[in-house]
Amino acid sequence: MKVLVVGGGGREHAFAWKLAQSARVQMVYLAPGNGGTAVDARYQNVPITDVVALRQWAQDNRIGLTVVGPEGPLAAGVVDEFRQHGLRIFGPTRAAAQLESSKAFSKAFMRRHGIPTAEYDTFSDPVAAHHYVAQKGAPIVVKADGLAAGKGVVVAMTLDEAHAAIDFMLGDNTLGVAHNEGGARVVIEEFLEGEEASFMVMCDGRNVLALATSQDHKRLLDGDQGPNTGGMGAYSPAPVVTPKVHARAMREIILPTIKGMEKDGIPYTGFLYAGLMIDAQGGVKTLEFNCRMGDPETQPILMRLKSDFLEVLLAATEPGAGQAFEQLELDWDRRTALGVVLAAHGYPLSPRKGDVLRGLPSEASDAVVFHAGTTLVQGQLQTSGGRVLCVTALGDSVRLAQARAYQALNGIHFDGMQFRTDVGHRGIKHS
Ligand code: AMP
Ligand code: GLY
Repeated sequence: MKVLVVGGGGREHAFAWKLAQSARVQMVYLAPGNGGTAVDARYQNVPITDVVALRQWAQDNRIGLTVVGPEGPLAAGVVDEFRQHGLRIFGPTRAAAQLESSKAFSKAFMRRHGIPTAEYDTFSDPVAAHHYVAQKGAPIVVKADGLAAGKGVVVAMTLDEAHAAIDFMLGDNTLGVAHNEGGARVVIEEFLEGEEASFMVMCDGRNVLALATSQDHKRLLDGDQGPNTGGMGAYSPAPVVTPKVHARAMREIILPTIKGMEKDGIPYTGFLYAGLMIDAQGGVKTLEFNCRMGDPETQPILMRLKSDFLEVLLAATEPGAGQAFEQLELDWDRRTALGVVLAAHGYPLSPRKGDVLRGLPSEASDAVVFHAGTTLVQGQLQTSGGRVLCVTALGDSVRLAQARAYQALNGIHFDGMQFRTDVGHRGIKHS
């Protein structure tokens, strides 16, 4: 079978890497892919990003299964387009992807279905927003309603920061948020305390299959300092997600969400990612939904998956839905996997492109370099985006996986390379 992975980041490289291990996979195509997938004979890059053109290409090339990585193509309706033409694809429809693409939609959805989340209100009028913030006080959280590549959230520790966030989200839009219909809106919500974890499942519209747990590092600098990013590293499993927390997340968040979507007439298919805030008592609240796998969480999660990923995706997209997927059990490597992101100079605000990569290690059974912002220019790998690589390794404990990952990245160089030296620190603390 020929399979297509939509996207070109580290998450998609990991999808492709795992799919290429399936006996039934003949070729893995990535649209558009990256420099790392360009130089590897296991994959072929397809330089198409337009949804209709991609569907046409998939038909012409007899693609048996497509899996979507990023939120952009999902929000653009890639799943709807493929399905309308009888193509098998794993991901949520455009309507279901609103769980991520619109904070206002997802907060209203959670309120309607009694899913635990922070108290909030939605504003398009800056005067009302300023008034609300003044009334509630700090700390408080201001979120742009629209896709902002993980940069549309300001956790304001002071009122000044909150007011400034309202001004630039509803005003000059310096973050470049892709506003939803109806123009600029913000969600302002209660500040939640606790520890975050990433909780991901697969869904076929009715049945749910939980994936291994994970935790990522959102801040740029060691000790969780500096600006928010898309994620600077991740590991799986996350010890903070105890069996009890896991059961609560399934019962209180995931299952009511899938049921709620079905009830609202927008059945959920695809990966669903709940960002959890876990309090000291083991209570869970939903920080956000993503309608996709996390990046970089996917890289360590898939390194631990022993089951055949193609078979899992085929079961999840079986016409008529049901049995095969319902009965599936995933087999995980008992070791910990940990990935360290190497980011470009200037990330996250203005990542520089064109720096030459050197010293990439060859793949080992316990250490893999997944590419993201790389491109092949006249036979030379160069940086082309903010998060450049994710060096991912397995080890018998968080500490050993961490040591192996840092050893594997030791020889890699590009000018301006930034990375955290403490990926996994929370996991080490808990274990
Ligand atoms: P989001 O994109 O909604 O997940 O927000 C990005 C990050 O902002 C989260 O990973 C949290 O670290 C932080 N954050 C978001 N909402 C809240 C909240 N209500 N309370 C505390 N921190 C938050
Ligand atoms: N690493 C967080 C995310 O993918 O949204």
